[in-house]
Amino acid sequence: MILEPNKDNILKAAEEIKRGNVVAFPTETVYGLGADCTNPIAVSKIFEAKQRPSFNPLIVHIHSISQMNDIAYIEKEEINKLVEKFWPGPLTIVLPKKDIIPDIVTAGHTTVAIRMPAHQVALELIEAAGTPVSAPSANMFGFLSPTKPEHVQKQLGCKANIILDGGDSSVGVESTIIEFTDYGAKVLRPGGLDVEEIKTVIPNIEYNDVSTDKPNAPGMLLHHYAPSVQIKFIEEVDPDGLDLSKAGALLFDGSNYNYNFSTKRILSSSGNYNEAAANLFKYLHELENENIELIVVERIENRGLGIAIMDRLTKAANRYR
Ligand code: TXA
Ligand code: MG
Repeated sequence: MILEPNKDNILKAAEEIKRGNVVAFPTETVYGLGADCTNPIAVSKIFEAKQRPSFNPLIVHIHSISQMNDIAYIEKEEINKLVEKFWPGPLTIVLPKKDIIPDIVTAGHTTVAIRMPAHQVALELIEAAGTPVSAPSANMFGFLSPTKPEHVQKQLGCKANIILDGGDSSVGVESTIIEFTDYGAKVLRPGGLDVEEIKTVIPNIEYNDVSTDKPNAPGMLLHHYAPSVQIKFIEEVDPDGLDLSKAGALLFDGSNYNYNFSTKRILSSSGNYNEAAANLFKYLHELENENIELIVVERIENRGLGIAIMDRLTKAANRYR
């Protein structure tokens, strides 16, 4: 059930979490499906609802920077600098975990992923629950991430008894995940925080394409985030040979590809990458609901949030290769 995010409903959702159940809640990146991260049975309900493989660890959400000390060891000064600059916000950091975090959350890893979301409803919910909240995106495993409460309802239906309505997610792609190791820091998943921003605090952070078919992060799987309709990059199809009445298009600023598609969406008519990221999953959800057999997407430049957008589109297209 989709509920207004007033005080009573936030408390009601927090009670559900305390009781060991799951609730869906808004964040600035995508909607999450949350449970008490210290309760392994509660966390198992997340995996069950999403049909998520148990080798995929979850992100733990906190409501204050100091709550990080309850669940992880902070061994480097640059970690404090990083979170003071970017939290709350679309940045997840992977740190050595404390014993309070059960293995099911980390899929047996000795590290835990942590994030403080920049959404008032999420912060109030976590605080009222009295525990950090583990939450993946609130979608069925491998499918489109939700950026509106209706997206959660569509995929999870009655599996999420409470869906707190926080409006459209303003960032629209998942958080950037970075890991600290003995050798330094590296990016595990590009996301809503531009890696160039992170470099202002950690100039030598490592970033390469880490996609693999043996991931420790589903964001690192070769295919993921896919709509239920086949998706291809536009230059890999011949638009002149296509039945355009059965094809929809997802274009960047609308200045290219003037074909007569059955339907189309423009990510940002002013060519703004942040606006494009915020619209990405929303438009893919809309397109998969249209009466079409193929979604063709335009490649965009690999810079700024364009990196996270291309990561999601490439993984969606890989599903249909
Ligand atoms: O923006 C986001 O990050 C959203 C919202 C809800 O916060 N959450 C999200 O969760 O995208 P999910 O489960 O879809 O992706 C979590 C990512 C996965 O790629 C997971 O493997 C990685 O975090 N992860 C979690 N714990 C990890 C760990 N200990 N080491 C490496 N990667 C980890
Ligand atoms: Mg996800």
